[in-house]
Amino acid sequence: MPKITYVEHDGTRHEIEAASGSTVMENAIRNSINGILAECGGACACATCHVYVDDAFADVAGRPDPMEEDMLDFAYDVRPTSRLSCQIKVSDALDGLVVHIPEKQG
Ligand code: FES
Repeated sequence: MPKITYVEHDGTRHEIEAASGSTVMENAIRNSINGILAECGGACACATCHVYVDDAFADVAGRPDPMEEDMLDFAYDVRPTSRLSCQIKVSDALDGLVVHIPEKQG
C-alpha cells in the first residue's frame, strides 16, 4: 500500500498507509488528520482540503485541472504546488508522497 505523510502546519507528521484508488483527502479524513476539513465531501466545491504537495512529488501528483484551478482561487495562501487533496488519486506512483497542510483552510 502506498504511504502518505501529512505534515501539519506546526510540523507534526503523520505517516499512513493509503489504499490505491482512494484520494489523499479521503485518507486524511479516515485517519483524523488535523487541518483537512473537506466540507463538500470531495466534490471539488469547497477548497477546504487544500494541501501543498512536497516539491519532490509535484510532477508525479500532477497539476490541477481547470475546475480545481478555479476552486483553488478560494483557498488560503495558494502556492505553486497547491492542490485540492480530494482531486489527488492515490496510486503506487505516489508511494512516499508528502503533503503539507496550510495554516488554515478557506
Ligand atoms: Fe471540497 Fe476537496 S473536499 S474541494
